[in-house]
Amino acid sequence: MKGLWLNIMQALGQKNARPKAPIYNEQDRAGLRRASRFNAQLMDFLRPQVKAGITTLELDRIAYEYTVEHGHTPACLGYKGYPNTICTSVNEVVCHGIPNKTPLREGDIVNLDLTTIVDGWHGDSSETFLIEPVAEEARKLVQVAFDCLYVGIDAIHPYGKLTEIGRAIERYARVRGYSVVQEYQGHGLGREFHQEPGVPHFVPKLNPSQVVIEPGMCFTVEPMINTGTWRTMLDKHDKWTVRTMDLSLSAQFEHTILVTESGPEILTATEHGPKQGFQF
Ligand code: MF3
Ligand code: CO
Ligand code: CO
Repeated sequence: MKGLWLNIMQALGQKNARPKAPIYNEQDRAGLRRASRFNAQLMDFLRPQVKAGITTLELDRIAYEYTVEHGHTPACLGYKGYPNTICTSVNEVVCHGIPNKTPLREGDIVNLDLTTIVDGWHGDSSETFLIEPVAEEARKLVQVAFDCLYVGIDAIHPYGKLTEIGRAIERYARVRGYSVVQEYQGHGLGREFHQEPGVPHFVPKLNPSQVVIEPGMCFTVEPMINTGTWRTMLDKHDKWTVRTMDLSLSAQFEHTILVTESGPEILTATEHGPKQGFQF
């Protein structure tokens, strides 16, 4: 009996000991804004080059050079042993696709996920690009994934619950016949790449997040939406590439969000990319 109580108390203690999401002051926020703005510029720089015929490895090299020429640091390169600057996830690849020498082809959809460190602060965003012409099935999926990002952002209210983000995204995707990836989620970021709070894009049945959204928090929203099953599998050989279990298509968009006293601020908004309401 004693042992059991001890275990329960230890479990509770560990739960309470979970590091809390940092609350950023004005000076921190300026650092976060600069890092995300650069990340968005990098996305805009890559945008016109994402075309049939280019390889994802070429896009990776372009991203590396642009980043270091501007005096900044690619966050993914070497992160937990990741081998490249960007993640390039084509068609059934959900996330963490490693750039390779296969040229993009008409009909592909490809997500470019970029993370940069500027003066010690991280900015993280991704977009899925259509290599036109694409099948209607792919266009519709990309549209729903894009809209899910904004449905999630619109659910961010200062002093609201973090679970509302996942609730809104899951509902939006599900009624349209799409599934939401569960094993990978949004995350707090700042001086660290991945930190509290975790941001699920669905409502976990077990232990849903009790986190209250507070002004000064910074985290990503990055729903991965599938045409088929939500289940995923990790590539046995490279241990990075995540694919849908049924090899159905997957699409994702990501922004870094700063919660301010007046609501969510999209730090990674681009100048030339699709804006909320865009039709693919
Ligand atoms: N940018 C990804 C995210 O959105 C993380 C990539 S980690 C890497 O969180 F190691 F694969 F680069
Ligand atoms: Co990312
Ligand atoms: Co992220």
